[in-house]
Amino acid sequence: MSFVITTPLYYVNDKPHLGSIYTTLICDSIARYKRLSGEKVIFITGVDEHGLKIQRTASNKNVKPQVHCDEISNIFIQNWRDWDITYNKFVRTSSKNHESIVDEFYRRVKKSDDIYMGVQKGWYCVGCEEFKDNPENSPTQKCPIHQKTLEWKNEENLFFKLSKYQSQIEDLINKPSFIQPKERRNEIINFVSKGLKDFSISRTNVSWGIPVPDTKNHTFYVWFDALLGYVSAISQNFSNPSLETSINNGWPADIHLIGKDILRFHSVYWPAMLLSAGMKVPKKVFGHGFLTREGQKMGKSLGNVLDPNLLLSKYGKEAVRWYLLKDITLGNDGDFQNRRFVDIINNDLANTIGNLLNRTSSMSRKWFNNKVPNNEDLIIDNTLELYSKEKVNNYIKHFNSYTLDLAANDLLDLAINTNLYLNEKQPWTLIKDKNNISLVSNIIYNVLESIRIIGLLLLPILPDLSSKIDIQLGSIYDKNKSWIEQLNWGILKHESILPIPNPIIEKLEYE
Ligand code: MSP
Repeated sequence: MSFVITTPLYYVNDKPHLGSIYTTLICDSIARYKRLSGEKVIFITGVDEHGLKIQRTASNKNVKPQVHCDEISNIFIQNWRDWDITYNKFVRTSSKNHESIVDEFYRRVKKSDDIYMGVQKGWYCVGCEEFKDNPENSPTQKCPIHQKTLEWKNEENLFFKLSKYQSQIEDLINKPSFIQPKERRNEIINFVSKGLKDFSISRTNVSWGIPVPDTKNHTFYVWFDALLGYVSAISQNFSNPSLETSINNGWPADIHLIGKDILRFHSVYWPAMLLSAGMKVPKKVFGHGFLTREGQKMGKSLGNVLDPNLLLSKYGKEAVRWYLLKDITLGNDGDFQNRRFVDIINNDLANTIGNLLNRTSSMSRKWFNNKVPNNEDLIIDNTLELYSKEKVNNYIKHFNSYTLDLAANDLLDLAINTNLYLNEKQPWTLIKDKNNISLVSNIIYNVLESIRIIGLLLLPILPDLSSKIDIQLGSIYDKNKSWIEQLNWGILKHESILPIPNPIIEKLEYE
C-alpha cells in the first residue's frame, strides 16, 4: 500500500509563483514525513498544459503550444529541483501516456451511458477555464478571481451526466474526513444542495487539447483531461500504462492538496467522473487558503507578486519553508509580510534553535573535553525528557492530521522550553564548584539530547537545517534505522565527539 499525495497540476501559462511553491512545499513536507514514518509514498506533481488559456498564451508569443509547454514545464522541473522537492512523479498532460489514459477513461464513462451531445451557453472565464454561475447578477461580468471580462460561449459540446451522481456525491461530501478544512466542506455542501447540473467536457473551438475519440473537431475540456493526470501519473514508466495499472499501483489518492479556488472540481466533478468509470474516489481533498502580500491579494496587475526565485536566492529555501509552514495555518489565507518574515526566522531559527545548539555545544566542548558528557551518574533530572515525549506525541498527532503549523510549533515549544531549562539550571554557575560535575553533565546531556530530537523533528520540514544540527551533534542520525524510534529519549551517546560549533543559520536583516 502506498500513500499517494498530489499537488494540483499547474497551468503552464507562466512560471511558478509563490502560490504554487506554497502548495508544493506543503506536499513535500507531508511526503517526507510519511516516508520517515515508514510508508511507501507516491508524491505526484506536474503541469496542466492544454486548453484555451495555454493556446492563447502560446499564440501571443508566436510559438507552437507544444514549444511553449516544453519551455515552461522545464522551468517547473528546474524550480522543483531548486526547492528540493522530493516528488516521485511529474506528470505532463501533453504526454502520450496521459493521452491514452484520458482516451480509455472516456470510453469507460461513455459505456456507463454518462455522455451526451448538447448545447453549452454561458459566460466563461479563460483564466479559470470554467463557466461561471449566475454572472448576470454581477454588474461587471468579470471573473472575481481574475478580474477579467468573461466571454460568452454558445456551442455544441459533449456533456457529462453529473446530475446522475447527486446522491452519491452528497453521501461523499457529508463524510467529515473527505473535505478539509470543515469550513470549506460547508461551502461544497451548500453548492451541491442546490442540485448538480451536467457539465460540458468537450470544446469545438480549442485545437490545443486531446481529441475526443470518434467525435470530429472536439477536444476534451481541459479540466476533464487534467484531473486524469493524477491517475496517469501513477502508471507512468510502467510498460503498460493503463487505468488498471494505476489502480493496481496506488490509486486512489490519499490526499489531493489544492487551493480553495479549485475545490469544486476536486470534491464534486472529479469523484463523479471516477464513479462513472467504476473507479475509487480520492480519500481526502484539502483546500488550503490563498497567500496575500502585506494584506493585499498577490497579482500581476497590482505589481506585488513575490518572485519565489528572488526569495530563494536572498533568504534560502529553509527560511521560506519555515515561514510558510509554521506561520500559516493550513486552510487559512496567509499574509507574507517582510518584517514578520525576518523576525520569525531570527527568533525561531537563529536564536531559539541555533543559539541553543551553539552555546550548549560550546559549553560541552569546554567542560567535557570536546565531547557529549556522561549522564549515567547519580542525579537523573527527567523534566526535559518528559516534556520532549509530550511534544513528540503532539507533533505526530498534528502531522497526521495535516496541521503542519501546529507540528512546527510543537518542535519550537520544545526548543523554547529547553532554553528555559538551561537558563534556570545555570550550569555555567554550577560548574565553578567541582562537586557539581555530575549535575552539570546531566543538564548538558539533557539539553543536547533535546536538541537532537528538535533536529529530527525538523527533518520533514527543514531537511537542510536538520542535517546541519545533526552534523553539529556528531552525525548521529542513522538513515537506515527507524526515524520514529530515534525520536525516543536517550540515544545521544556520551563521550561522542562534538565538532567545532558553526552557526546553522545566518540572521536576516530588515530591508
Ligand atoms: N490547472 C489547474 C489545476 C488542475 S489540477 C488537476 C489550476 N492551476 S493553477 O496553476 O491556476 O493553480 C494551481 C494552484 O495554485 C491552485 O490550487 C491555486 O489555488 C493555487 N494558487 C494560485 N494562486 C495562489 C495564491 N496566491 N496562494 C496560494 N495558492 C494559490 O488551477
